[in-house]
Amino acid sequence: MFLIIDDDLAVRTSLKLLLKQAGYPAQAVATPTEALAVVREAPPRLVLMDMNFSLATTGADGLALLRQVKQLAPQVPVILITGWGSISLAVEGMKAGAAEFVTKPWHNDALLQTIGTVLSLYEAAPADADTPAASRRQLDKQYRFTDIIGQDAQLLQVLRNVGQVAATDASVLIEGDSGTGKELIAEAIHRNSQRRNQPFVKVNLGGISSSLFESEMFGHRRGAFTDAKADRVGRFELANGGTIFLDEIGELELASQVKLLRVLQDRTYEVLGDSKTRRLDIRVIAATNRNLAEMVAQGRFREDLFYRINLITVRLPALRERPADIPLLTQHFVDQLRATYQRPALKVSTQALHWLREQPLPGNIRELKNLVERAVLVSGKDELGPEDFQANAQRLPVRAPAPGELPTPGTMTLDELEAQMIRQSLAHYDGNISRVAKALGLSRGALYRRFEKHGIPYEQ
Ligand SMILES: Nc1ncnc2c1ncn2[C@@H]1O[C@H](COP(=O)(O)OP(=O)(O)OP(=O)(O)O)[C@@H](O)[C@H]1O
Ligand SMILES: [Mg+2]
Repeated sequence: MFLIIDDDLAVRTSLKLLLKQAGYPAQAVATPTEALAVVREAPPRLVLMDMNFSLATTGADGLALLRQVKQLAPQVPVILITGWGSISLAVEGMKAGAAEFVTKPWHNDALLQTIGTVLSLYEAAPADADTPAASRRQLDKQYRFTDIIGQDAQLLQVLRNVGQVAATDASVLIEGDSGTGKELIAEAIHRNSQRRNQPFVKVNLGGISSSLFESEMFGHRRGAFTDAKADRVGRFELANGGTIFLDEIGELELASQVKLLRVLQDRTYEVLGDSKTRRLDIRVIAATNRNLAEMVAQGRFREDLFYRINLITVRLPALRERPADIPLLTQHFVDQLRATYQRPALKVSTQALHWLREQPLPGNIRELKNLVERAVLVSGKDELGPEDFQANAQRLPVRAPAPGELPTPGTMTLDELEAQMIRQSLAHYDGNISRVAKALGLSRGALYRRFEKHGIPYEQ
């Protein structure tokens, strides 16, 4: 049984009808006293409560009621209904334990979707704390985590959470240092969701200035502003029906944050130059390498937006927190390179794996991947030892070479310099021959001849 708390008879009646049609029997009450009596007698499956349930109140009574409900029945999810103007109240409510909030006037579909999401989260089988961590293999039987390597307990916990929430429509915030695999996790959530055959659209919010935000995200009609020479489809429209991945959300300027909040809140938007309101059916995944809670405290990130996107938070461990995964990841990258460069004999020595395990790797998995790639390309050997990685590890702080700086005369021949430049360019362009040739001002043929001359391995 659901419990509806609202002092407005019309609201009670329409909500009750909506829920009944959706297959959720509900009971509706008008006052906190009645509500508490119901909760005490038999905790409802879900509570839907209006925060401003009496015109005479400021919402403080709503908050007090919420706290009492959570005290009596902490396991019962509570969805708050607030006016658009009182989102700060909703945020207070989230802190006090509410599961979600919707703003008035609500859209029936969106409300039902929210209810479905909240129920699936609250009623998902809880992970059994007593059993030992389910092995990676067990997880792989349930979900598709193909490209995600690792068996560290923290990572497995992340994957377990990801698997559980993927099927819901809940917004997920992925936190983690740079290079920890945030994008990979975002893709995994989409791939394991009902929306897997719908679009997955990635947007780097750090790259969108506030003056272009609306046109980028919502699209524009030709002539909507001076530079609008043609119609443009916005990212939200591209992602409609699927998932939008809001990367680097911590970089978003405050002026854009409010616009984003609006659309995430109402699931409606307008294309610039077109007054028709469009509805969105979208799953939101956001990622950041910043500490958003801290940014909220400093007033640099809107608190209401924070609560809108972090229904579920996934924190990716830094690589140094999971050193046991370093050898596994290294092997994985070497396997990939063996196939890419068609070098069946390529492998890493055990000593090298031990050495890598001890490295700080502040750039995390991306740094490890680049390091392995550089070592393979530059050493040209079939079995890589610690020295091959040492030679290519970027020691911090890296001194930027002065422009035009060359090795001291007498330390290197022209041939050696040429070979070194080619190797560096290969590493820089991830082995992309066309780009290396272009950067060096050579034809591909001339570049291949130099590979032969210097004995540099390359991809056919
Ligand atoms: N668990 C993993 N197994 C295999 N490869 C991984 C794993 N995690 C990350 N990678 C690889 O490391 C690189 C960086 O990952 P990704 O782009 O997802 O990181 P990120 O957290 O989004 O980084 P940034 O904050 O710099 O954008 C990618 O090439 C990705 O494929
Ligand atoms: Mg990223």
